[in-house]
Amino acid sequence: FKIPTPYNEPVLSYAPGSGERTQLKAALTEARSKQIEVPMYIGGEKVLTDRKVALRPPHDHQHILGYYSQGSKEHVTQAINAALAAKAKWEDLAWEQRAAIFLKAADLIAGPYRAKLNAATMLGQSKSAYQAEIDSACEIIDFLRFNVAYMTEIYSQQVDSAKGVWNRIEQRPLEGFVFALTPFNFTAIAGNLPTSAALMGNVVVWKPANTQIYAANVLMEVFREAGVPDGVINLVYVSGPDAGDVIFKHPDFAGIHFTGSTEVFQNIWKEIGNNIHRYKTYPRIVGETGGKDFILVHGSADVDVANTALVRGAFEYQGQKCSAASRAYIAKSIWPSVKELMVKDIASFKIGPVENFENFINAVIDEKSFDKLAKYIDNAKADPNVEILAGGTYDKSKGYFINPTVIVAKDPKYVTMCEELFGPVLTIFVYDDAQFDETLKLIDTTSIYALTGAVIAQDRYAIDQATHALRNAAGNFYINDKCTGAVVGQQPFGGARGSGTNDKAGSMINLLRWVSPRTIKETF
Ligand code: NAD
Ligand code: ALA
Repeated sequence: FKIPTPYNEPVLSYAPGSGERTQLKAALTEARSKQIEVPMYIGGEKVLTDRKVALRPPHDHQHILGYYSQGSKEHVTQAINAALAAKAKWEDLAWEQRAAIFLKAADLIAGPYRAKLNAATMLGQSKSAYQAEIDSACEIIDFLRFNVAYMTEIYSQQVDSAKGVWNRIEQRPLEGFVFALTPFNFTAIAGNLPTSAALMGNVVVWKPANTQIYAANVLMEVFREAGVPDGVINLVYVSGPDAGDVIFKHPDFAGIHFTGSTEVFQNIWKEIGNNIHRYKTYPRIVGETGGKDFILVHGSADVDVANTALVRGAFEYQGQKCSAASRAYIAKSIWPSVKELMVKDIASFKIGPVENFENFINAVIDEKSFDKLAKYIDNAKADPNVEILAGGTYDKSKGYFINPTVIVAKDPKYVTMCEELFGPVLTIFVYDDAQFDETLKLIDTTSIYALTGAVIAQDRYAIDQATHALRNAAGNFYINDKCTGAVVGQQPFGGARGSGTNDKAGSMINLLRWVSPRTIKETF
């Protein structure tokens, strides 16, 4: 079979008067006008419980979009049983049938579900129309299409045979079930983690972040309409510890596909280690975790390029991308010009709810995140060694709004230069141009993470030096660009150190983690 050649889904503009804008506005109005009941999905059944939890837009926390049914450990057990019951039939299904299901899912999102899924991401996660479009339309579509292409490459890779012998490699699904544990910040990631494992013939228990359930529910509708059979992907809404307690003790636990914070992932790893004697097979542990992503601006940089990389890298989606720029090192010689542009740009940002497409900054995800960010900001304001160049204010009366904040720190190891804050806060250290080598060392050693980073420079020697010196400091490294916005099929995404197992989401490397090869030798 020759599968359709994958291509990146074009990003729609949502310009005033465009058809897509009219459709998205209608989907937003429709979603806001009713309160929906969001069920779990276990073995193809919609499961409701008596424990209803309200779903609210972070930018309008008094509004209720609907209620999800909170599940218990018993539901996790049921989901595992449903997955295992579906396993034999699913893994025996011809791969092109699995491919067809996920290619159809991509087309459903590109077409009839685009507005609904984007509206759900905008309302549930407080994402602007543009940020929703590149996430819950383009990126998830790209994951689905490109993963099918990578799958066919994996299945076609074979070995040589000597005379009188036929050697084969059989790519088997894992023996057991896969647990997909997904974060709030990207609907595309929430969709990719269960589907990539399922595409390779695995059965899945999927637990999304509570703050992403509103859009996860629409993804599940798409998967069902595309033809994912009952029990292949089971969606449960339970607390992380409840899910972990059942799953990590189960003998058929065969792998975890995780994206989220480093702390949670490290605890999960320990938990798996503690239960290792229980499992039939060593589980695959794939985790994409936190970041403290940097931008290095050399004295030779183009000031406009530097400014764009800084403000877009730091503040799009309120800095809640794992890839977001949260620390910057700027050469003293160029700092005054960069500063002037940044301050002007940030002052022009419109802040408010997602329903107004003019707003560039929306709310942070929840009160816990808001309070944590406000505390860091208050501490910075009280510290005589740091300057607040922009922002520094916040308001949670209607939604969780934090004004985009720029901190300039005299100490390159100031707390907000080191820790992941996950919000619209950028900390800058201004370095002496003559201290470029030392600054490279500083960047490499300041945080435990190594997800994304960028160098902005025109001097080719500086670019070369930074690329080499920082080769372990970021899994995705950008030259003269912001450090966010990796595109599936073009810049495979992921980092090492405290940022994860670097299994590059949306790549063959990732899909290979969801198969267990068998070598067959036949002698004639
Ligand atoms: P999180 O770690 O709080 O939650 C991730 C998932 O784990 C959620 O489903 C959550 O309910 C679950 N969870 C939480 N505590 C648990 C526990 N004790 N046991 C089992 N499960 C538990 O992360 P988040 O706030 O949803 O997402 C933000 C984090 O994700 C940031 O650190 C960000 O850098 C990271 N992230 C990384 C990437 C990447 O590609 N490296 C991409 C997106 C997000
Ligand atoms: N694809 C997302 C980015 O690179 C994670 O920002």
